Amino acid sequence: MVGKQGRQWRSLCKGLVLGTLLTSCMILLYCLSGPQAQFNLPEGPVPYSCAHRPAQAHTRLITNSSHHAAGQTGICTPKVDIMFMKTHKTASSTLLNILFRFGEKHRLKFAFPNSRNDFFYPSPFQSSQVKDYRPGMCFNIICNHMRFNAPEVAKVLPTDTSYITILRDPSELFESSFHYFGRLVPMTWKIPGEDKVGEFLRDPRHYFDPNGFNSFYLKNLLFFDFGQDNTLELGDPRVEEGIRAIAGRFQLVMLVEHFDESLMLLKDALCWEMDDLLFFKLNARKGSTVSKLTPELRAKALEWNAVDWRLYQHFNATFWRKVEAYGRQRMADDVAELQRRNAEMAAVCIEGGHAVDAGSIQETAMQPWQPIGEKSIMGYNLKKNVDKAHRKLCLKMLTPELQYLTELGVNLWITKLWGHVRDVINW
Ligand SMILES: *[C@@H]1O[C@H](CO)[C@@H](O)[C@H](O)[C@H]1NC(C)=O
Ligand SMILES: *[C@@H]1O[C@H](CO)[C@@H](O)[C@H](O)[C@H]1NC(C)=O
Repeated sequence: MVGKQGRQWRSLCKGLVLGTLLTSCMILLYCLSGPQAQFNLPEGPVPYSCAHRPAQAHTRLITNSSHHAAGQTGICTPKVDIMFMKTHKTASSTLLNILFRFGEKHRLKFAFPNSRNDFFYPSPFQSSQVKDYRPGMCFNIICNHMRFNAPEVAKVLPTDTSYITILRDPSELFESSFHYFGRLVPMTWKIPGEDKVGEFLRDPRHYFDPNGFNSFYLKNLLFFDFGQDNTLELGDPRVEEGIRAIAGRFQLVMLVEHFDESLMLLKDALCWEMDDLLFFKLNARKGSTVSKLTPELRAKALEWNAVDWRLYQHFNATFWRKVEAYGRQRMADDVAELQRRNAEMAAVCIEGGHAVDAGSIQETAMQPWQPIGEKSIMGYNLKKNVDKAHRKLCLKMLTPELQYLTELGVNLWITKLWGHVRDVINW
């Protein structure tokens, strides 16, 4: 009797396991075949925003309408459809943190990459690189590193999306890029001496090979990020064409050197609130407040990155025209207010009140990603016993980019694998 029951149980279990396996296979097949079934939808931009809007539309009154064109009602609605072109080495991690928090607050849908933290940079952006993208699908924000490619980006976002980006003085950007990515560019390996940047700049043409692996990191990186040809000479008509294309596409071009003012222009352009702009400087390099270039090397770096310098000067001019339109005094007041509130938050959230070296960061969750062979990027320790009211915001404001991406559900296995390999070989 007992033996027969045992056999019955065993066959029942086998049946169950087999059934489960078969069902899983069917589900898997269904998933794999799913996308094709939907590919007959037209490709192209989504006409309307798909943002979740609560019934009481969160509009706000413009407090000082004297600066706004006559005829405006003084009421605006926060813009939630945003393309942020994340350029390299431009404080853009700090801006990403702001965008992540804004996205969470308004329950927006991010167009994220899959398996890593960029859109297969440096290959030009393709809509198919967006995780779970299907034609006709709607996203609100795209903000990870990419090589800009306007027609493909337009497929992912609603037609009235706000395009914003940020630039940095090309000599500082060049130095930073050299420091951060130099080891990924084989042509730098043969540069002799300790001061490789200086040596390179003394005779760039001797060391630079436009066809060398990763060479774009060392010449007109900004122009390259915007999808343009970074090896053009100044005077080539394609330089001005490229700048015109960028000017026509991007509503707001911010400047790292005037980050707080940039955020105020962002607030104005997107109808955001001061609360949305609070930030701690993330991913900052040790001693980054002082330039590492002598005036002579700075001049050489600008000459070497002449196209980026032209780009920067163009948008420097538009930037200050916008500040003028915003109102000089209003700008000064608003920047002071932001700085006061940031300092307040730093006192509430940060142990010791300031950033510390990587070695002094206690929790791995707070460790920023480091350049190869270096530990030069600073981070923070969250204060112990932060009161409940602030704890969540503090944590979000301090979370480094990769950890925040993971929290938002991005699978970063390639990036993480690379990190583990570096840990093992201690690079
Ligand atoms: C509005 O801006 C003007 C010009 O900058 C300034 O004189 C005025 O005090 C501002 N009003 C308010 C309510 O902030
Ligand atoms: C940027 O524009 C301002 C205002 O016109 C000017 O004073 C400044 O020198 C410019 N900076 C650069 C780097 O061109």
